[in-house]
Amino acid sequence: MTMGTALVTGASSGIGAIYADRLAQRGYDLLLVARNAERLSGLAARISGDHGVRVETQPADLRTAEGIAGVTRHLMNGGGVTMLVNSAGVAPRGSFLGSELADLSELVDLNVVALHDLTAAAAQTFATRRNGAIINISSAVALMPEHFNASYVASKAFVLGMTQALAADLSACNVRLQAVLPGLTRTEIFDRAGISLNAIDPEMLMEAAELVDAALAGFDLGETVTIPSLPDVGLWEEMERARTTLAPHLSLRTAAARFGLRAG
Ligand SMILES: NC(=O)c1ccc[n+]([C@@H]2O[C@H](COP(=O)([O-])OP(=O)(O)OC[C@H]3O[C@@H](n4cnc5c(N)ncnc54)[C@H](OP(=O)(O)O)[C@@H]3O)[C@@H](O)[C@H]2O)c1
Repeated sequence: MTMGTALVTGASSGIGAIYADRLAQRGYDLLLVARNAERLSGLAARISGDHGVRVETQPADLRTAEGIAGVTRHLMNGGGVTMLVNSAGVAPRGSFLGSELADLSELVDLNVVALHDLTAAAAQTFATRRNGAIINISSAVALMPEHFNASYVASKAFVLGMTQALAADLSACNVRLQAVLPGLTRTEIFDRAGISLNAIDPEMLMEAAELVDAALAGFDLGETVTIPSLPDVGLWEEMERARTTLAPHLSLRTAAARFGLRAG
């Protein structure tokens, strides 16, 4: 029985390249997306040799509308894609205040707009087919917005929010969604952002293979949100409970008494 095709963005390096390998090991054919055509072809040859699956590549710049459209068409009905992994993403080169607006905007184009469009196309197709899975790579910084570049943390909070919303929306359609929240993970993302890995506490740095293997184990366990380094999942569940407790108070006819709008 075939697993169908997994479309993996950001497959030319780091987390996406490991997903490609592990999903091929699980029997998926692959469609690999990133800008670097040569690296994609090299990886495709290695993976098809190692695992005997069909691997195709689609070089695309996902910061552009054309790049997104070229990939989205594979996610429309009729294509054999049954899993989407959104791993393509960039980290900022420096602080928010020290960044050029154009660079922050390009980060949002890739981390938010491209991920949104591919996820939306896949979600609609998979829901119609009543089969499929979407894995979105967010980041642990989505939970710690005060500590990092605002555009980056907000982009990763978007990924988390979109994934949680769709998980609820599509649960009746046999479509699985998972957001993965890596902490610091050894990949090229640091080089690309001009950050030396030597500046990072090794106790906080996970290997990319371990990250992906843990994330896939979380997927197998049915988790919607997976934090690969979190030893006690109860802490996450506690946070989710607190969020649910807020719900009945978030939209009411009157403002809260603590603002003193009404006498008495
Ligand atoms: N490493 C970490 O510490 C960490 C922590 C939390 C979250 N994450 C997230 O994990 C995801 C994967 O990152 P990584 O750590 O594996 O970094 P990486 O090794 O730099 O991989 C990034 C991938 O995205 C692709 N990419 C970059 N710009 C692109 C564009 N304009 N169009 C299409 N593809 C593009 C890159 O390939 P090309 O250059 O060939 O296009 C590469 O395949 C990202 O979303 C990142 O935000 C990483």
